[in-house]
Amino acid sequence: MNKLQEEILRLKVERHALILAHNYVDFPLQEIADFVGDSLELSVKAAKADAEVLVVCGVRFMAETAKLLSPHATVLLPCADAGCPMADMASGDAVRAARAAMPDATIIAYVNTTAATKAEVDICCTSGNAEKIVSSVKKGTPILFLPDRNLGRNVSRTLDRPMNYWSGCCPIHDAITLEMIENARAKHPGAEVLIHPECRPEVVAAADRALSTGGMLRYVRESDKKSFIIATECGILFRLRNENPGKEFFALEPAVVCKDMKKITLEMVRDALIDLKPQVELSPDVAEMALNAVRRMIDTK
Ligand code: 13P
Ligand code: SF4
Repeated sequence: MNKLQEEILRLKVERHALILAHNYVDFPLQEIADFVGDSLELSVKAAKADAEVLVVCGVRFMAETAKLLSPHATVLLPCADAGCPMADMASGDAVRAARAAMPDATIIAYVNTTAATKAEVDICCTSGNAEKIVSSVKKGTPILFLPDRNLGRNVSRTLDRPMNYWSGCCPIHDAITLEMIENARAKHPGAEVLIHPECRPEVVAAADRALSTGGMLRYVRESDKKSFIIATECGILFRLRNENPGKEFFALEPAVVCKDMKKITLEMVRDALIDLKPQVELSPDVAEMALNAVRRMIDTK
């Protein structure tokens, strides 16, 4: 641990804070976190947290979800402008208009949405539970899946369940090409290709397994295979390598980087714990409706 990390650990105790970090953020941030996980795992942790302060090392929608699930906590997003371009592709107003046009549809929102958008939908999902959530909708009921057309199509194909899709996507995962996968396979013969389901369906079809980031970590831990090509944001490689010293992990080329996930720094976390800002605040009406959609997701068995 460096001096800054030690200072953060001290402040964390003083502030009765819990630090949650996404698998994509830089490793020094993962090291000072109480919990590191994918979007679903972070939501579940936030729902169970009884800390006075929650520090979210990730992007805004993750901090908003933590605030929904832990409304009495002070939720800090140390880098206030760490957003998710995909979350901005479906506004609450646009989703309300879509509801008016498709009144019979169940609207499922990927958790990568703003709280204002979650407030307009029936249920949320993450990449870790999307198949379960889609399957929970009664057969024959039309579904509108938003904002990620890639995740929607990948789930639809696996479940053989037609859906209507929004036209959004994660620009980072959408930019992963078949050629990048083929080049990596040629360079690392025999390595298994793990891909995130935010990638385009034809690229997912060229990989061996589509998994959330948490799913990748679990799969690798339990697998007998020794080498893996990782087709998602490169931040996850730190944790994969750290937790699996006997195994090899190869990134795609060019490297897949989400610049929003890389905005947060240790200095920002330290300052946020000192100043107790920037805080995430949600209007009570939006929060109540958005929480319903997130709770339905967590409660779906
Ligand atoms: P998961 O970690 O839930 O798989 O999501 C990836 C992602 O892009 C989060 O922004
Ligand atoms: Fe959003 Fe994609 Fe970055 Fe995840 S990787 S935060 S989906 S832009």
